[in-house]
Amino acid sequence: MTRHTILLTGGLGYIGSHTAVALVEAGYQVVILDNLSNSERSVFDALGTLVGPNHLTFIEGDVTDAATLERVFSDHSFFGVVHFAALKSVAESEAQPLAYLETNIGGLLTLLRAMEQAEVFNLVFSSSATVYGDQEIFPIPETAERSAVNTYGFTKLSSEQMLERVGSNDDRWSFGVLRYFNPIGAHESAAIGERPNGIPANLLPYIDRVATGSLPELVVYGDDYPTPDGTGVRDYIHVMDLAEGHVRSLDAIEATGEGHTVNIGTGQGYSVLEVIRAYEAVSGIKIPYRAVQGTLLFI
Ligand SMILES: NC(=O)c1ccc[n+]([C@@H]2O[C@H](COP(=O)([O-])OP(=O)(O)OC[C@H]3O[C@@H](n4cnc5c(N)ncnc54)[C@H](O)[C@@H]3O)[C@@H](O)[C@H]2O)c1
Repeated sequence: MTRHTILLTGGLGYIGSHTAVALVEAGYQVVILDNLSNSERSVFDALGTLVGPNHLTFIEGDVTDAATLERVFSDHSFFGVVHFAALKSVAESEAQPLAYLETNIGGLLTLLRAMEQAEVFNLVFSSSATVYGDQEIFPIPETAERSAVNTYGFTKLSSEQMLERVGSNDDRWSFGVLRYFNPIGAHESAAIGERPNGIPANLLPYIDRVATGSLPELVVYGDDYPTPDGTGVRDYIHVMDLAEGHVRSLDAIEATGEGHTVNIGTGQGYSVLEVIRAYEAVSGIKIPYRAVQGTLLFI
């Protein structure tokens, strides 16, 4: 039995595609809106193969386009929206700040307007551990102070603050704010996975490209951190666990009518070198790497 219909913006991307699988398996009908700026239509075909074509719809379109959103909301009756669509490279956000403000903040605002007009008030939002800025407490509690240390982080922090404003002034809204730590891995079928366009900004797809010979070596940003081996320590979470977190977030909104803000990580950190060694041990492939000065940042 189909439970509800959910709009997934950015649903052909890495986390969105895995969440589409988890939602369909939990009984939801899923409508994906994606402009294919960092994904491919073939992901939709792969999703159909994985969960069957009957529970999924794909619309190519941009979340900053009010007319597109108006049409999507008038064609479907949604219980809620899971909003993944965003630009997510820290380096690019410094080079092109307006593009990041436009897509990440403008897109959210346009979406909220369309939702209000359609009287859809449940939203799960992809936030990030980036909102904790340079916090050195580990594990970081949700109550830790937030700050923006780059333009990408600014867009996530501002989005959270926008949702807080809207929610505190209008109790029709329920916002599930999920602060992701570092998602890795893929669906066990490997039919979908993390396939960014261009040079990957995340560790695992970067290692994959080195392992498969399409990049010569891994560049490790920083090897003098105060960690046991000097490389940055991050909390990695399997993408299917993260996907499941979105199902739980929607369930909680439905059960309580209330929003929530939660970290989604494991509470256990691993260094870049530990990840490289684990990859080498499992694959049997040597990963050449070179450390450079720089900062390993949350996205
Ligand atoms: N991957 C991570 O490590 C990570 C960590 C924390 C937060 N996040 C956030 O999670 C969300 C999803 O991340 P991801 O890793 O799956 O990224 P992704 O780039 O793989 O997926 C984003 C999807 O959104 C689409 N998109 C981008 N701009 C759009 C627009 N204007 N209109 C419609 N579609 C658009 C892209 O084509 C892509 O398919 C993002 O909001 C990201 O900031 C990701």
